[in-house]
Amino acid sequence: MKVIRFHEHGDAGTMQLDDVEQPTPGSGQVLIKVAGTSFNPVDASIRAGYLRQVFPVALPHTPGIDVAGTVTALGEGVTGLQVGARVIGFLPMTADGAAAEYVLAPAEALAAAPTTIPLADAAALPATGLTAWQALFDHADVQPGQRILVNGAGGAVGGYAVQLAVQAGATVVATAGERNAERLRGYGAQVTDRDIDGVTGRFDTVLNFAPVPAADMAALAGLVRDGGALVTTTTPGPQDDPRGVRSISVFVQSDAGRLAALVERVDAGRLHVHIADHVTLDELPAVHARSDAGTLSGKTVIVS
Ligand SMILES: NC(=O)c1ccc[n+]([C@@H]2O[C@H](COP(=O)([O-])OP(=O)(O)OC[C@H]3O[C@@H](n4cnc5c(N)ncnc54)[C@H](OP(=O)(O)O)[C@@H]3O)[C@@H](O)[C@H]2O)c1
Repeated sequence: MKVIRFHEHGDAGTMQLDDVEQPTPGSGQVLIKVAGTSFNPVDASIRAGYLRQVFPVALPHTPGIDVAGTVTALGEGVTGLQVGARVIGFLPMTADGAAAEYVLAPAEALAAAPTTIPLADAAALPATGLTAWQALFDHADVQPGQRILVNGAGGAVGGYAVQLAVQAGATVVATAGERNAERLRGYGAQVTDRDIDGVTGRFDTVLNFAPVPAADMAALAGLVRDGGALVTTTTPGPQDDPRGVRSISVFVQSDAGRLAALVERVDAGRLHVHIADHVTLDELPAVHARSDAGTLSGKTVIVS
């Protein structure tokens, strides 16, 4: 089968299309014929070797932590899933990923795919949708009537977070570039440009999903009301705020039950899966190169 792999850490040029044996599912695993995976910024950091301590991948490594596809074989002990099932999942960070024709996945990480969007597009949901949910409700405990700021709302996590927070009854202010502003207004957010100096008032929770410098994190913490929370997926926030502002770093966890709940929202038309671009497997190195150059915007789905 065809896979994209990097044989050493380095720039996007380390990635190549390889032909390898199709793997066999072990205990608790299933084999999935991949319809799509999606690019996440962490993929580029793992490839470059910046996250060797946190996510020590064996080389050569196949990236792709999101999968959407069809189950083609079941490992020992797998129950509740059939061959032919259309599934999505957030794969273990250090295992070989879904930038391949087939991938192994733990059965327990999988949820039924949405039926109202193309199967490959559903690969844009798992890691980022779970991150948005966990940031809002596991870490921040967003409640109806609260005022929430989403910094970096133009990205994949931000788009889901805005929709989920609005539906939870919060008033949402979102910072985003012009190209995403109209879409985020359509989700119900008040949109302001990316200059946080222009944001006024204080918020119950500030969510940061943008790779911002530490100085900006201090400014974001300053926008949190006394006793509120700054929740971030990127740069850590300042600690020991005398106003009792909690700084929380998110590390997304796989959660098939929560993923199934997000799928229900997609199929009910309440959670929009926004995709900026589709590419084929052999184009993935170019996607990594664009991410490294800072010219990649929005969610890219890689179709197998
Ligand atoms: N810790 C975790 O568990 C975890 C999980 C998932 C993601 N993450 C991280 O969270 C971040 C967001 O993920 P994602 O998938 O949503 O990435 P993404 O789709 O690339 O979105 C990031 C967005 O941030 C905006 N942005 C960039 N620089 C900004 C700045 N200086 N100020 C304000 N906005 C800025 C851009 O929006 P515009 O296009 O509107 O300018 C961009 O679309 C990434 O860094 C990712 O690695 C961490």
